Amino acid sequence: LNYNPSEPPFVTYYVPFIGSMIEFGIHPIKFIRKYQKIHGNFFTFLMFGRRMTVCIDLDGNDFVFNVKHSNVTAEDAYNSLTKPVFGEGVVYDVPNSMLMEQKRMVKAGLSIENFRAYIPIIIMEVNQYVDKYWTKDEESIDLLQSISEMIIMTASHTLLGPEIRSRLYEGIADLYHTLDSCFTPIHFLFEWLPLPSYYASEKAHAELDSIFANVIAERRKNPGDKHIDMLDALMASKYKNGEPLSDKHVGNMLIALLMAGQHTSAATTTWALLNLAANPDVVDEARKEINRLVGQELKGDSVPEVSYEDVKDFNVLNNVVRETLRIRSPLIQLMRKVVKPVAVPNTNYVIPAGYYIIASPIISSTDEKYYKNAEDWVPSRWNNDETDDSADKNMTDYGFGAMSTSARSPNLPFGAGRHRCIGEQFAYLQIKTILYTLLTRFEFELDPKRGMPERNYQSMVVLPEGPVLCRYKRRATSN
Ligand code: HEM
Repeated sequence: LNYNPSEPPFVTYYVPFIGSMIEFGIHPIKFIRKYQKIHGNFFTFLMFGRRMTVCIDLDGNDFVFNVKHSNVTAEDAYNSLTKPVFGEGVVYDVPNSMLMEQKRMVKAGLSIENFRAYIPIIIMEVNQYVDKYWTKDEESIDLLQSISEMIIMTASHTLLGPEIRSRLYEGIADLYHTLDSCFTPIHFLFEWLPLPSYYASEKAHAELDSIFANVIAERRKNPGDKHIDMLDALMASKYKNGEPLSDKHVGNMLIALLMAGQHTSAATTTWALLNLAANPDVVDEARKEINRLVGQELKGDSVPEVSYEDVKDFNVLNNVVRETLRIRSPLIQLMRKVVKPVAVPNTNYVIPAGYYIIASPIISSTDEKYYKNAEDWVPSRWNNDETDDSADKNMTDYGFGAMSTSARSPNLPFGAGRHRCIGEQFAYLQIKTILYTLLTRFEFELDPKRGMPERNYQSMVVLPEGPVLCRYKRRATSN
């Protein structure tokens, strides 16, 4: 009876239309923290004519990730950005119920059987890359660039299959880059502008479509040949009504998966290695555990195959990835659009239709309230972590990562609820296997002039500010 609905408080701005765009764009995390102190966990700011309501801390995370789909949707927020890149008929270009079915189809390509097959491929790809490009005994390299290439190679080979992987050097990598150039905040803000990158990406998309169509057609001609990869899994998948995923949509889904995993996993692997370079004691600990599990001292250029169980049991590396994601989550703004006014539980706030809501789980995952010395990278803080890893019954937990899926957890680098990431287990497998291979062969040191890079907030995925220089040193083989 005391209920007096009102909008969340509005951040004061001085330039009409533009609003707080500049202050937010330069350092979104500083911006959110500053206004959290003034307004609390829900507040709205103006950005280029759009009203964006920031929803943070446990209440904000829970609200954005579990809000009713009838009031608030991801597809209305993301489709203009993702459609030119992914193409039609997949992810945010279909009704939500269909996306849920498509996510189920993807899970078939992320089974334990598949993961077992992916490990030796990942080791082989990383070896091939460093044999070709890291040829000195020691040298400073652009780590982000090297890791990005390793992620493309390993993801393409395991998800898209050997045929497409073998053609990566024939220009497919350039097509990916062209698509990628559409994935910027500019394209979110100026969706109505005929930006040249849209035309380029349409063309790149058409070319990729025809390459995928050929590979799919070849595979359909030889149905007896079984491939353990995402492509085979999607080619065999069906909607509940019995309809298969069309070949075109198989291709679009593969592009979507590659794009979803590329910068996120590349940034995470790069930050993990940079932090390992700055913390040799953690490297020692990781190697001790690895040697114990594989039963020999590993050192030098020959990297033995490891089993799925071994990779799963690399706990130090698990903590390394988890801690890296806590302080350097690559996705710091997850968006939805309000299509019907929505009340924020336990407040008097109602957010009007047309507003965007933003979750930013990194605000809680770096809050001193939840983590001591919250900005420090301390993987051992996850030793004996008791987080309930099985909160989301729809997810299969293969024992990788940290499946904390309750939206009331302060640490949600993979989101929560209906749009939660399906790639977490794959990302952990891929990143841990890359780290295993590199730590066996090399020592790493931060470049003395560059040190630990700052974050670059100019892209949709937060990356380390380049050039990300890091020094590798080849480890002598132990006898
Ligand atoms: C969604 C993070 C890797 C596929 C998401 C979301 C987050 C996230 C936060 C939720 C988006 C939202 O709620 O708006 C990450 C991070 C990764 C990673 C930090 C690596 C360290 C991957 C990989 C794949 C993938 C490797 C594919 C194999 C997806 C898909 C969605 C998604 C398809 C969309 C789900 C939906 O909207 O329902 N990811 N991701 N991700 N992720 Fe990932």
